[in-house]
Amino acid sequence: MLINRPSDIVPSEITPQDFYARRREFIKAVGGLALATALPQSALAGDPLRVTVKSPYSTSETPTPLKNVIAYNNFYEFGTDKEDPARNAHTLKTRPWTVSIEGLVKRPKTLAIDDILRLAPLEERIYRMRCVEGWSMVIPWVGFPLATLLKQVEPLGNAKYVELTSAADPATMPGIRRDVLDWPYTEGLRLDEAMHPLTLMAVGLYGEVLPNQNGAPLRLVVPWKYGFKGAKSLVRIRLVEQEPKTAWVRAAPREYGFYSNVNPEVDHPRWSQGSERRIGEFLKRKTMMFNGYGDQVGQLYAGMDLKKFY
Ligand code: MTE
Repeated sequence: MLINRPSDIVPSEITPQDFYARRREFIKAVGGLALATALPQSALAGDPLRVTVKSPYSTSETPTPLKNVIAYNNFYEFGTDKEDPARNAHTLKTRPWTVSIEGLVKRPKTLAIDDILRLAPLEERIYRMRCVEGWSMVIPWVGFPLATLLKQVEPLGNAKYVELTSAADPATMPGIRRDVLDWPYTEGLRLDEAMHPLTLMAVGLYGEVLPNQNGAPLRLVVPWKYGFKGAKSLVRIRLVEQEPKTAWVRAAPREYGFYSNVNPEVDHPRWSQGSERRIGEFLKRKTMMFNGYGDQVGQLYAGMDLKKFY
């Protein structure tokens, strides 16, 4: 049985020991995967390809408490208040679940989520996350690079962008009966952004299967872009030639652009992006260019006017 019931947790009672004990349950749940960060080497007797390693891409900043990560969410399919997803997303059924990878590829595939979980060793990546609304968190994701999935289908030479589409099921997602966005939620990346090693397909956080409200069973995480790029509960990944129209660009093109790189110098038309409030902290902190990932990703945008391509 997968442990996928965050309501079982009393977050204030989580100690590091609880955390590691629950991680072991997670490891069992996903079929013998071992998290090297949690277990001594001697415990890694299984298939070494399944071993999760501590990622060199992780920040050493203190993670945001689990209770905030799973209780303060944006997932409009379950309502627009920050507390709505935690309250409502229990209706989402994450098994059976398939993801189709299609479009300009040599070998299109429809993969079951449990096969996706077996494709690559899972890594823990502790990433800074910056929401366009001005708050930020540090989240220990569990996942694997999106590049791993894309290589499975062999993108064709004319594939320039990747479009990612979330589930949109009116029976289980009460929010999509309202017109807040043009459903389904879609996002997009340029192919080189999608192939970048920092770009993650997350299947868990804090050592556990992703809670529904955080985008189970599979969501995108792009740490140098605003959080809305991280489309949740993905059902389709399509390789295309033209820049895809994303849900937020369709809804408010003056406010949201395709690139959405974290950039303290380009304000949102209605508020500054120069600073942010880290959830759990009192004082605001300065927002960093590319959310602090400039050394790794700056080259992707060499020569581009980032005020124009916001
Ligand atoms: N994906 C879907 N399908 N629907 C959404 O409403 N909200 C986005 C993004 N992905 C959203 C989504 C926004 S605005 C943010 S900030 C992040 O998810 C929030 O992720 P979190 O709740 O896991 O912190």
